[in-house]
Amino acid sequence: MVTRAFPQHIAFIMDGNGRWAEQRGLNRLEGHREGYRALRKIVDACIDLGLPYATFYAFSKENWNRPKEEVDGLQVLLGEYLDEHLTDEKIAEAKEKGVRFRVIGNLTGISEELQGKVSEILRKTSENATHHVSIAFGYGSRDEIVHAARGIVRAVLNGDLKVEELNEASFSRYLFTADIPDPDLLVRTSGEFRISNFLLYQIAYSELYITPTLWPDFRPEELKQAIQEFQTRERRFGLTSAQVQPSPKNNKDTN
Ligand code: FPP
Repeated sequence: MVTRAFPQHIAFIMDGNGRWAEQRGLNRLEGHREGYRALRKIVDACIDLGLPYATFYAFSKENWNRPKEEVDGLQVLLGEYLDEHLTDEKIAEAKEKGVRFRVIGNLTGISEELQGKVSEILRKTSENATHHVSIAFGYGSRDEIVHAARGIVRAVLNGDLKVEELNEASFSRYLFTADIPDPDLLVRTSGEFRISNFLLYQIAYSELYITPTLWPDFRPEELKQAIQEFQTRERRFGLTSAQVQPSPKNNKDTN
C-alpha cells in the first residue's frame, strides 16, 4: 500500500560540481559556484512546496583535505550564503515565511568571522518554525556520533542523565540534528551509490533517490519528480505490508 504522504524532511548530497566543471573545461570552483546557484533555487523550491525540513551537505569533514584553493573557495561560498541571508530584507522575508536557517557540523576550522555569521543567522531566525533549512558544513556523521557519545558521557558523569534513560530517542538529542526529524528522503546527485558519511544515524529508514543529474543541473522540476517517486514507495519500517496503513494526513500533490 502506497501512502502518498508528503515528505517532512529531505536531505541532499549535492554531488557532481567537479564533473560539471570538468565537462565544460572550467575550474572546479566554477562548478561549486554553479552548485551554489542550484542550491539557492532548490532551497526556494523546498519552501514553495511547503517542505518543513531540508538539509544540504555542502562540505564534509573529509573535504578539509581537498586542495587549499577549493577549501577556501567553499568557505567563500558559505560566507556569501550567510551574507545573502543576513540582509535586513532577507531576515524580514525569513520571518514572514517562517524560515529558520542553521549550519550543522564541526565549525572549528572556519574563521571566527564566519563562525560569528553562523551564530548570527541562527540567532536571527531561531524563532521561525515553518521551514528549517540546514547546511551541513565541516560535517561528518561518525564525528557527530562521537561528539554525541562525549556529550552523553559528560551528562551521565554530571548526573544530568541516567544510563537507563539512554535510548534511541534520547541518544538522537545529542546529535547536531537534535530537534530535526529524521529524513524521509535522501537525494544524491551525480549517480554515485554511497552515503559518504552523511546522517548515518538519521537515515536508518530514509528512502533513497539517486539521480545521474549533476548537482548544478538539479532543478525544482526534478525535486518534484523525486517527491513523486517517494510518494510511490511503501515505507514499512520493518513491518509487513499488511501492517502498514496509509496515512491520509500530510498527503499533498506536488503539481
Ligand atoms: C561535491 O561535488 C560537492 C561539494 C564538495 C560541495 C557542494 C557545495 C555546493 C553545492 C555549494 C556550496 C554552498 C555553500 C553554502 C557552501 P564534487 O566536488 O565532489 O564533485 P565531483 O565528484 O564531480 O568532483
